[in-house]
Amino acid sequence: MAAELPTFTPAGAEAYAGFAKFSGGYRASIQAMLELGIKPALRCLPQGESVKILEVGAGQGKSAWAIDTALRSQDNLPDIRIFRTEPDEKKTIAEGRAAFFSGSDTELLLPEVVAPAEVLPVAGEFVRLVVGSQVLHWMNGEQARRSFREAHRVLKDGGTLVHATSGIMNLLSYNEHHFTRHPFVLYQYLPLLEAALTRRGYWDRAKDGVFVPWNPQANPVYYRYTLADVRQWLQDAGFHHINIRMSMFPCDTKEIEARLSTNFAALEMHFFQSERLKAIPKEEKMEMAKTAFEAAKAQAPDLFASFDRQNREVTIGSVFARTSGEPVPVIVARK
Ligand SMILES: C[S@@+](CC[C@H](N)C(=O)[O-])C[C@H]1O[C@@H](n2cnc3c(N)ncnc32)[C@H](O)[C@@H]1O
Repeated sequence: MAAELPTFTPAGAEAYAGFAKFSGGYRASIQAMLELGIKPALRCLPQGESVKILEVGAGQGKSAWAIDTALRSQDNLPDIRIFRTEPDEKKTIAEGRAAFFSGSDTELLLPEVVAPAEVLPVAGEFVRLVVGSQVLHWMNGEQARRSFREAHRVLKDGGTLVHATSGIMNLLSYNEHHFTRHPFVLYQYLPLLEAALTRRGYWDRAKDGVFVPWNPQANPVYYRYTLADVRQWLQDAGFHHINIRMSMFPCDTKEIEARLSTNFAALEMHFFQSERLKAIPKEEKMEMAKTAFEAAKAQAPDLFASFDRQNREVTIGSVFARTSGEPVPVIVARK
């Protein structure tokens, strides 16, 4: 069905570090997928078996590269081939990829199959693992359900599904660890951002409600479903031994400043995801966000500084109390 991955040069070993520069959430995802799902599944296989992994939503191949590179540095693991699928044809355009990756030592890998996770043009019982890094929360409920049925179809018996996702999905009791729930963001920053949007006629509390990311007027993607729904849908698709564990990328003040004022992708993903807010010119959004952030920091410096007083290490499979950042649920299920 697809070409094999290239042979990696020693520089490939640096990919993981280069990749991690982009986003701590991605870094936590890869580590957690490897430790909680992929490596345990591979260790259960007979020695000498050559293993096919299918990655859905592979984008420009960062996660495929990082997983492959990390696995290659392990002893006693089988020979691995990762096949990448991605529904968005734009992601295969060279200029887009080059712009995204410039300044990184991560190598680009094209998706081999252009298809969404819910309709895979792949034979049944074809692969040992289906994996997805930071993909599931971009699907609506129906797409997620169908993708689980598809994964079940393409997996061999005893095969494993592994998804790492994000706090845009409703994490139930773990929501409190998401940085948007930290009092600095919730009670200082967001009211100031709402005031700026209101002054410019982009928000109306009486009509739109309180400006928080989980208000669909601000972000219709947030909380479309819960981790409990995911568990149920996996069960309905025929999976068993369903295990959902939380990992964590804690945010320090530098990361929070970026997410609240300078990182446009993070701002749009969390706070400006509705069509109406997306339509506001980028410079205006950046300016409102930066002004709100600076004013919030001046009003509550100690609350802001509290981001630096928490554990700063990525944790795998557990979350420290009172830690705020990007919780990463890792979903592992067996056919
Ligand atoms: C945040 S990116 C992650 C890309 C890649 N996995 C990585 O970690 O570098 C999310 C990806 O999910 C893809 N995606 C969105 N909806 C999807 C669907 N229904 N099926 C498969 N992939 C989807 C997007 O096109 C995008 O490439």
